[in-house]
Parts: sequence; C-alpha cells; structure tokens
Amino acid sequence: MSHESITVSIAGTGSCLPDKTLTNADLAKIVDTSDEWITTRTGIKERRIAEGMSNSDLATGAGRQALENAKLEASDIDQIIVATVTPDTLMPSTAAYVQHKLGATKAIAYDISAACSGFLYAMQLAENAIKAGSAENVLIIGSEKLSSFVDWNDRTTCVLFGDGAGAAVISKGGEGAILATEIGTDGSQTEILKIPGGGSNCPTTASNIGDGLASIKMEGQEVFKHAVNRMKTAANSVIEKANLQPSDIAQVIPHQANLRIIDAISKRLDVDKDIVFVNLDRYGNTSAAAVAIALDEAQRADKFKRGDHIVLVVFGAGLTWAASAIRW
Ligand code: ACO
Repeated sequence: MSHESITVSIAGTGSCLPDKTLTNADLAKIVDTSDEWITTRTGIKERRIAEGMSNSDLATGAGRQALENAKLEASDIDQIIVATVTPDTLMPSTAAYVQHKLGATKAIAYDISAACSGFLYAMQLAENAIKAGSAENVLIIGSEKLSSFVDWNDRTTCVLFGDGAGAAVISKGGEGAILATEIGTDGSQTEILKIPGGGSNCPTTASNIGDGLASIKMEGQEVFKHAVNRMKTAANSVIEKANLQPSDIAQVIPHQANLRIIDAISKRLDVDKDIVFVNLDRYGNTSAAAVAIALDEAQRADKFKRGDHIVLVVFGAGLTWAASAIRW
C-alpha cells in the first residue's frame, strides 16, 4: 500500500489537570500584579499547579484517559511520544516513565522538545511513523510542569503559565483523517523565549543559583507579533491544502497563551469567534499541553462531531509553529 493511501486519524483524547488552583488574586499576594491587569492583558483568570505530582504523573493520567476514549489497551500502543520542555529528568525521557506507569511494555518511548508546538510536532511524527509502516497506534502526549521553571518573583512571566497534560491516540485507519499539516521552525529567534540556565551551556552552580537562570525568560511583545503571524499563515495553509474554506471549519483549536493572540488570529482567519475554542481563562499557558487539553475538552463538550472539520494551530519557543486540518 502506498503511503498516500494510508489514512491516519485521532482515535481518542484525554487530559489531566492537577487539583490545585492558583487564582489571579492569589498571585497578587506574591507579586505586584492584579486580577484586572492579568485579565485584560491575557484573559487568564486562574491556572493549575501540580503539587506532589510529577510531569509524568500528569502525562500518564492524560494518556490513560486517551486510551480509554480510543477503547484501546496499553498493550496496543507501539510508540509513546511526550512533548515537553519541563521533563521529570533530563535523562531518561519523561516518556520512559510514562511507558512504565501505563504498562505499555511494547511501546518505544521518547520525548520531543518543541515548546508550545510540541503536541502537533508529535502528531506529525506519529502520522509519519504510521504511514511508514513502523507503528499502528501512537500515544502522543503534551505535558508540562511549568510551575517548576517559573520565576515566582517575575510578574511579567509567572502570571502566564500553568501545569497540565493532554493526550491523543493516533491510529492507522479509522473514520476521521488528518488531512494536512504545516510545521516550521525559525532558529534565529531563540533569544526571545527561553530557559537560559540548567542545560549544558549554563548549568546551575553554587555561584549562579541566585540568578534564577533556570526559569522562563520572555520578550512578550516580540513573541506576540511572531505568534500572530506564524499561526495565521500556518492555519491558512492547512485550510487551503485540505481544500477547505474557513466556513467549512466547525472548530479552531489554537494554542492557549493569550486571548488577545487568539482574537487576532480569529479575525485574520475570517472565522467566527464562537467557533474558536478557549480554556486559557482556567488553565493559563500550559505550553505543549495547551492545545491537547483544549482538543480533549472541545471533543468532550461536543464542539464538533464525526465528519466535521477542525483546525489545530500552535506556536512556541524555538521559534516553532504548526497547524493541522483534521476531519473528525
Ligand atoms: N502585572 C502588572 N503589570 C505588569 C505585569 C503583571 N503581571 N507584567 C508586566 N507588567 C507591566 C510591565 O512591567 C509594563 O510596565 P511599564 O509600562 O511600566 O514598563 C506594562 O505592564 C506593560 O508590559 P508589556 O510587556 O508591554 O505588556 P503586554 O501588553 O505586551 O503583555 C504579555 C505582556 C501578556 C506577556 C504579552 O506580551 C504576551 O502574551 N505575549 C505573548 C506570549 C506568548 O504567546 N507566548 C507563547 C509561547 S509561550 C512558550 O512557548 C512556552
């Protein structure tokens, strides 16, 4: 069978959010900020914090739910790909812990690092593996424990991020299909969004430990501009490649970073705001997990049905971006 005649679909989705909620009012007790500033600039009202839970615990919870939703067993999974920038450990991969916790002994497991775009990068890898014949069911998980990498003294970043995980089982065949994917990287802009320390270039040492280098640094306005442009272009491109019109789309599920970015994209894509899924008010920006959690919640809320077309679109550090047009 040629690669082109193999269809690949989303067989099930899941998500896992920690119980602890941190509201804007809670943050105003820690840094000089207010509910009014955070709400008007970002749309975020609260976020979840993983206390006593690891990234791989969240990822396992989301993965288990996606398997149930897909009516598959852990033993059916050939690959587990965890997209994360906040791994349990630098070595081994978070995916290795997840493989063990799920008991998915047949699956090869590895992490990918593409920041907020990681879930759609993982979806592309899963699709390619299935089309190449090396897998039939791939569990992809976007999972983050960003609270461990936030500088809780920096009001310009600590209000933005949260913890959580979302997952999907990507399978050969099925009723729906991934119709078109667009994916990109621009490595010339690494400085505008990064965790500068804690890696091999700048390990944490006794002398730099107070500098807070192992936490997220961001030039917010620069990131904002790139995010709007790249997401608009990527989403338009997959809509065109899939031979769709904006009016054919039942739901757009964007990366959940900032409501103003989402509004700007809705306008530029010429789609009604009502069909653009938003949950960042409850979870903040959960990086690679955000679009995955949003997909799961939109699916469970019946925002689209079998045969409908949806578009996922993401943007993150790297810079990285991706979009996917899917027939559900
Ligand atoms: N509370 C109160 N005031 C604040 C806060 C805060 N939490 N944060 C910043 N301010 C102040 C600033 O100090 C500044 O004050 P000044 O004018 O006295 O200097 C003022 O508010 C305006 O700050 P800006 O940075 O200009 O605010 P902006 O409107 O750009 O909003 C934001 C900042 C929310 C970060 C926005 O730029 C943004 O969302 N950027 C994109 C983020 C994003 O999309 N990331 C996606 C990828 S994330 C990933 O890959 C992990």
